[in-house]
Amino acid sequence: MKSVGIGIVGCGNVFDIYMRGLISDSHVRVVRCADIDLARAREAAGRHNIPAHGTVDELLQDPGVEVVVNLTPPTVHMEVTEAALKAGKHVYSEKPLALDLDSVRKAIALAGTTGRRLGAAPDTFLGGAAQTARAVLDEGRIGAPVAATAFFVHHRAESWHPDPTHLFKPGGGPVLDLGPYYISLLVSCLGPVAEVASMSHTGQKRRVVTAPNRRVEVVEAEVATHSAALLRFVSGAVCVVQLSFDVWDAHLPFVEIYGTKGAMSLADPNGYDGDVLIKMKEGTSWDPVSPVMPPQAAHGSGDQFRRGLGVADLATAIRTGVPHSTGPDFVYHVLEVLLAIETSERSAAVTQIASRCERPRSMANTAAHA
Ligand SMILES: NC(=O)c1ccc[n+]([C@@H]2O[C@H](COP(=O)([O-])OP(=O)(O)OC[C@H]3O[C@@H](n4cnc5c(N)ncnc54)[C@H](O)[C@@H]3O)[C@@H](O)[C@H]2O)c1
Repeated sequence: MKSVGIGIVGCGNVFDIYMRGLISDSHVRVVRCADIDLARAREAAGRHNIPAHGTVDELLQDPGVEVVVNLTPPTVHMEVTEAALKAGKHVYSEKPLALDLDSVRKAIALAGTTGRRLGAAPDTFLGGAAQTARAVLDEGRIGAPVAATAFFVHHRAESWHPDPTHLFKPGGGPVLDLGPYYISLLVSCLGPVAEVASMSHTGQKRRVVTAPNRRVEVVEAEVATHSAALLRFVSGAVCVVQLSFDVWDAHLPFVEIYGTKGAMSLADPNGYDGDVLIKMKEGTSWDPVSPVMPPQAAHGSGDQFRRGLGVADLATAIRTGVPHSTGPDFVYHVLEVLLAIETSERSAAVTQIASRCERPRSMANTAAHA
């Protein structure tokens, strides 16, 4: 398969993390990078031997760029995505794809008109842990799913990113920053969501940035920083979700799914791999499930949190003509659920989810993992 030319827009914090994932994949080759800050684009190209760098316009005019990977901050995502689609490029955007559903509908329509693909992060649900969990469910090993829990709580948002401003603005917050990993995994495993109820709180509005390489000292939170939500899936299964930038510590699992015949515990959906454990109703211990695919990276290594599988999946789909796993219906539905968590918080009412999607195909033994 001829490799697919990638152009990356946005050379900030996550750029190197993507490069670590993309350079190890033979389906893609990064041919150019761009940033509004030209020095950042030049330095990023230098660090990774990327043949060309410069402005976004130059990247969009480069015939060698087939797919634009959009790594700009959330408020900029749609502007870059639309410009790339209009320039005839396929697009893979970081999450959230947009801040509202109207913009996503427009982008999906534009992709249809231009005959280009539109995909979006996260891609961790394509990794070994999520796919192993998916196989457990598809094989009926824990019976019919009845309920689930999903927790991601911490107080570190201001301690690791040199400029965490976007993490506390619209498009950020724990719901839109962390939620995509969880809701994508749950929809991939359990199917679409029918309704959402949620409440929120902000523990601390003024965040003092403590990241050692910080570029800002203080960020004011403009979005809720603690959300507790209930999801009802179309299947009838119900899920408790808690997403927070306000919890100093906790003893909570990441994700658990409870079936009629047993229970399953999953690894952190922010990474690709990790143990999947099941305990059957007549069992006495939590037992590891054999992974359905080789690990993406060494156990416990930082490479568990690299990115790029979704780009490789999109590239393979372009060449082979099959649907990509982060397709429009799926990413639209996941975003509708995430935005409904925020809407329900504001309206203090249960929010109905209008969209439905198919679960993405199982990834075990597909080309992107070969
Ligand atoms: N940082 C991470 O570890 C991480 C992990 C997963 C996902 N993400 C997602 O990746 C995206 C980027 O995050 P980040 O942490 O790298 O942000 P960042 O602020 O560090 O970097 C964003 C880059 O985009 C550039 N930019 C801004 N507007 C632009 C425009 N109009 N055209 C071209 N370039 C522009 C900025 O100059 C900056 O270099 C976000 O959507 C975030 O949710 C980040």
